[in-house]
Amino acid sequence: MQEAHVAQEAASFASDIMPIFERSCVSCHGAFNEEADSVVTEEALDMTTYEGVMGGSMWGTVVEPGDAAGSILYDMVLEGDMPEDGDPLPQEEIELIGAWIDAGAENN
Ligand code: HEC
Repeated sequence: MQEAHVAQEAASFASDIMPIFERSCVSCHGAFNEEADSVVTEEALDMTTYEGVMGGSMWGTVVEPGDAAGSILYDMVLEGDMPEDGDPLPQEEIELIGAWIDAGAENN
């Protein structure tokens, strides 16, 4: 699968992954939420920084480096469970997140 290989080499936390999280996730996971008029950090999962993502939620790790299929964060976007109350992420973004995790979930 040539395409998957390319995506895997290209997936960068800073330039590919963080923009997705900032657009679709942080309003409920670590940043100011306009509706709530306060900072909302559902399940104590702070997705505003790499350390926060890797630190996981109140239940534990949400990203298992090297194992997207075993990562609850990936599973939830794949199933459309997250973002909650919103449209599922585009297929391309789901693949980027999977490729980034499979490549070791580095702060790259
Ligand atoms: C509208 C608010 C909202 C948005 C936006 C949102 N979440 Fe969530 N998230 C929640 C709530 C509420 C829970 C707890 C209930 C649940 O697990 O369904 C949760 C739970 C989670 C969990 C499970 C934590 C655990 O250990 O059980 C993960 C992982 C997660 N979200 C990832 C994401 C990702 C990735 C995005 C963006 C693609 C996202 N969320 C966007 C509200 C949100």
